[in-house]
Amino acid sequence: SKRIEIRDLLQGQHTGAQVTAMGWVRNKRESKNVFFFTLNDGSCLQALQVVADPAQTPEEVLRKISVGAALAVSGQLVASQGKGQSVELQATDIRILGEADPEKYPLQPKKHSLEFLREIAHLRMRTNTFGAIFRIRHHLQFAIHQFFNERGFFNLHTPIITASDAEGAGEMFQVTTLDLKNPPRTPEGEIDYKQDFFERSTNLTVSGQLEGELGALALGKIYTFGPTFRAENSNTSRHLAEFWMIEPEMAFYELEDNMDLAEDMLKYVIRYALEHCAEDLEFLAQRAEEEEKQKPQQERSEMGLLQRLQFVLEHPFERLSYTEAIEILRNSQHNRKKKFQYLIEAWGTDLQSEHERYLVEKHFKKPVILYNYPAAIKSFYMRLNEDGKTVGAMDILFPGIGEIVGGSQREERYQELKERAKSMGIEEEAIAWYLETRQFGTVPHSGFGLGFERLMLFVTGMTNIRDVIAFPRFPGSAEF
Ligand code: 4AD
Ligand code: MG
Repeated sequence: SKRIEIRDLLQGQHTGAQVTAMGWVRNKRESKNVFFFTLNDGSCLQALQVVADPAQTPEEVLRKISVGAALAVSGQLVASQGKGQSVELQATDIRILGEADPEKYPLQPKKHSLEFLREIAHLRMRTNTFGAIFRIRHHLQFAIHQFFNERGFFNLHTPIITASDAEGAGEMFQVTTLDLKNPPRTPEGEIDYKQDFFERSTNLTVSGQLEGELGALALGKIYTFGPTFRAENSNTSRHLAEFWMIEPEMAFYELEDNMDLAEDMLKYVIRYALEHCAEDLEFLAQRAEEEEKQKPQQERSEMGLLQRLQFVLEHPFERLSYTEAIEILRNSQHNRKKKFQYLIEAWGTDLQSEHERYLVEKHFKKPVILYNYPAAIKSFYMRLNEDGKTVGAMDILFPGIGEIVGGSQREERYQELKERAKSMGIEEEAIAWYLETRQFGTVPHSGFGLGFERLMLFVTGMTNIRDVIAFPRFPGSAEF
């Protein structure tokens, strides 16, 4: 009989039919007269229960049905009397597709720690937790494309290899075809990048924004959704060296339009996940609840995962300026009692994640949009406000995460942009193509970047960013 995916077998319309299921054994239980095992094929969280008659099954086959082995099982799908499953497969034919030596297979039917699973990233997607995470990841990225498509945005593919440092932070991975052990040199003794493949020095992109702006100034509204790379200290639970970023860029949008769009997008995709990933989210919610129980009472969060997602949908994000936030922080009990590692003393200090989390988790208890930051602590492309000292920046801060979105209205005025770039030590030639857009038909425009893995953390309730991307890249880790 034809193979049917387990997600479909569990729906009910195949009950009574002769079917074939294929998948990996998750669990097995044997007694004298009956042999039970469950089969998961990744199509959904739940595994299919299979019942085999040991008297009818060759000894050789029975021996090879072990946790992790891949099987093709044919038989009749019948309504199940058992608890927790609607149907079961009564096997008449079992084929072993791939054995898994029980002495060696590391995933046994018990709870493994996330730390252990990180060490076997090549197998961890076969667990319930990681299966749920990566199905949700798929649905979330699909929801993001759908959101922008419904609003008339065009998806623009910006380059991975580039000569520009969009953020001006110098945290780039260099790309070169030169033999750096023995590089060609200029008469002055510098490495001669003219002899490199691109005839210049290049790096992996840190952001598609600047190229995205070129798209917005032609197509009106675009978004990128691609990998970005940062050679910053990513030894934290919130940073990766390779992460995925969604960057919309819109002509004729001012800062407030930008905030509205970002808030709408976040709510749209969270709602989509609740509607399309209910089974996986419920599983992760239970998982998170068990983790919470391990914590001391005062550290436990007031809401469960699903409640937290629902809460975000139902409340407008708090919007306040950097200046207002500094006042709140400066006067907070935390600051007075010196509980911050970095105390807030004066206007102009950059906010650390402890401050962001204080605002979100202790003060407002909901997502916060901070805007109008001091020019000195933000990137060169952000639009200078009338006060001459702040820029039209906006960051969105989420409970449990901190910064999830960073964006701004862009400086569209040629002279102002040139001066700001110069004051930040950026050479004019390096951004000549970018400056030109301000000479030919410049318009007010805005955009932002959403860190996809930070969104994944919020939606799945996981707490380490290395657990929401299949193959995390961080210092010392680039296997496969
Ligand atoms: O705030 P960032 O650096 O902003 C930009 O790159 C702008 N060019 C975006 C734009 O306006 N088009 O990064 C944007 C977001 C952050 O808010 C965070 O969610 C995420 O990207 N992010 C990281 N995520 C994981 N690992 C890292 N190392 C990250 N760095 C930033
Ligand atoms: Mg930022």
